[in-house]
Amino acid sequence: MTGGRRWNERQVRFMNRSFVERLGGELEGFRRDGVYKRFNYIDSPQSARVKMEGRGEVIILSSNNYLGLCDEPEVVEAGRRGLDRFGAGTGSVRFICGTFTIHRELEQRLARFVGAEASLTYVSCWNANEGLMPACLDEKDAVISDALNHASIIDSIRLCKAQRKVYPHSDMGALEKALREASSARHRFICTDGVFSMEGDITRLPDIVELARRYDAIVMVDDSHGTGVLGKTGRGTAEHYGLLDEVDVITSTLGKALGGAAGGFTAGPAALVDFLCQRSRPQLFSNALPPTVASSALAAVDHLERHPELVARLHDNVRFFREGLLGLGFKPHPSQTPIIPVIVGETAFAIKMSDMLLDEGVFVTGFGYPVVPQGQARVRCQISAAHSRADLQAALDAFRKVGRKLGLI
Ligand SMILES: Cc1ncc(COP(=O)(O)O)c(C=O)c1O
Repeated sequence: MTGGRRWNERQVRFMNRSFVERLGGELEGFRRDGVYKRFNYIDSPQSARVKMEGRGEVIILSSNNYLGLCDEPEVVEAGRRGLDRFGAGTGSVRFICGTFTIHRELEQRLARFVGAEASLTYVSCWNANEGLMPACLDEKDAVISDALNHASIIDSIRLCKAQRKVYPHSDMGALEKALREASSARHRFICTDGVFSMEGDITRLPDIVELARRYDAIVMVDDSHGTGVLGKTGRGTAEHYGLLDEVDVITSTLGKALGGAAGGFTAGPAALVDFLCQRSRPQLFSNALPPTVASSALAAVDHLERHPELVARLHDNVRFFREGLLGLGFKPHPSQTPIIPVIVGETAFAIKMSDMLLDEGVFVTGFGYPVVPQGQARVRCQISAAHSRADLQAALDAFRKVGRKLGLI
């Protein structure tokens, strides 16, 4: 990232000029339209408040650090121990240069945690998703996907040879129609986010499971925003609905509630996991999760199992903040999760609102096209168990001030 600086002449001399000029022109367009993204540099751990370069301490409402485990001492210390024991690097792909025992231990724990027979870790959930569908489905199969599924599911489907069907968001009638149309396929593979990342709503899992049983389909849930967040003990969307053991395949991230560093996993039947070890391309052609991160993630699962009250605290905070926004006159998108989007319309407006909130000491990101559809740009608030009531009240005060200035309330 150049921090918005233009390319310099010396660099361009060694590169294809028309290519660099075309990119530069498009970047100018992003700036002109007010949709250019700038990085904010943080010089402290992710926590309820962070130290932002040039700003000082700000309250952060745009992190997936749902349980506050990013800087939990047990999680940090486990990473240190992992570094000492296993070193910094994996050296190569795990079937080539060896698999660390910490990966085996983490995978057994993750499988147990989400109620599956086995699991396999990747360097990200992006990779877990991308390595799933293309590995185990082909032309004889059909993938049926919710329209608002995460980009990594969309890309996985693009890489897969199965026929594709996309149903409008959470439209169970359309899902049933797609299942009927795919009746001659060898497998019908339904994929859905557990919690939709831009809306914050929860997938209609009981209906999906019922349809899957009726039409002999496989259910895959990407629970990246559900793991550690939903269900009494944080086991995710299936626990939320009392459907543990009813989901065939779960993918999730270690980069949000579970320590927030990086990593993802696929959990399901042992045969699936074994098959992915043989055929999943990000597994076969890319290094495993760094052992430091695997050690921290294992400590995060441990910590959560010993502290389910963190999940209750998270939801208390969610209720407090949502009610606070409603009390101020905002109309946050309905959801029962820590993702609370305030939809404002145009991308440039969402970015302006986010800049104004930052001026008030609240870091919350504005999202626009192409991350969300045109005209549905939003400021997406994310709540953490790490926030104190004082943090959340200060954030609400900033929303009041900015909302009034912008004529939103
Ligand atoms: C639903 C969903 N799936 C997958 C991912 C990717 O997770 P990771 O950061 O582990 O690649 C995200 C991250 O934003 C997500 O929201």
